[in-house]
Amino acid sequence: MEVFKPLFVEWVCGLKPNRVIEIGAGTGHLSKALSNQSFSVTAIEPSPGMHKVASEVLAGENVELLNCSSFDLSSSRSYDVAFSHLVAHVVEDLFGYLESVFVCLSKGGHFVFSIPHPCFYNSYKNLFGGDYNYMTPMSKEISFSITKDPNNKVSGVPYHHRPLSTYINGILEAGFAIDSFHETYPQWEVQLKYGKPWDNPRYCAFFCKKL
Ligand SMILES: C[S@@+](CC[C@H](N)C(=O)[O-])C[C@H]1O[C@@H](n2cnc3c(N)ncnc32)[C@H](O)[C@@H]1O
Repeated sequence: MEVFKPLFVEWVCGLKPNRVIEIGAGTGHLSKALSNQSFSVTAIEPSPGMHKVASEVLAGENVELLNCSSFDLSSSRSYDVAFSHLVAHVVEDLFGYLESVFVCLSKGGHFVFSIPHPCFYNSYKNLFGGDYNYMTPMSKEISFSITKDPNNKVSGVPYHHRPLSTYINGILEAGFAIDSFHETYPQWEVQLKYGKPWDNPRYCAFFCKKL
């Protein structure tokens, strides 16, 4: 989060939006970081447990929090920026996910989303052991603890590995253009906060535009 909070604030604010939606807000910390800007922020989170935590984190903040998934969104309420952090790899139906976000954006709207970097994440976490093959989509339920809060373990979270081409082609097929691609590789001092220097970028983000 230390790495991503300033990045998402910079990315979202840089798009000069009026209406922003966070898809899969989890504990709500990113929406909170964006709550005092000149645009409105809606955050959606389908998991009742996460939604409860987010409602505490966002209490008193200028954020509309909804307990629903991207698949519940419709075009009747549109946004000019949607963003999601570490959600797309959790969703089994990637194309359906991208389409569901496309639907809630106005024409010319932007979707910025991050995922664990498909090229490097397995060598960092060794999720799939000897079964791993970069080109083969594969899934697993994983547990992780948050670096800054190692006692707080989150378990049973799906992880769907897909090669980068699956993301790129899915984004284009859903009707987006790709404006740019970011590979997350922070300054050395920040890398060290995550244990040791990074050999590779661990995360990446797509900047998409609804045509
Ligand atoms: C790994 S967590 C990341 C949470 C948060 N974005 C963060 O970075 O701390 C993935 C989140 O995506 C949510 N999620 C899964 N599918 C979703 C969907 N279709 N629409 C919205 N949220 C979804 C899950 O409930 C979960 O909270």
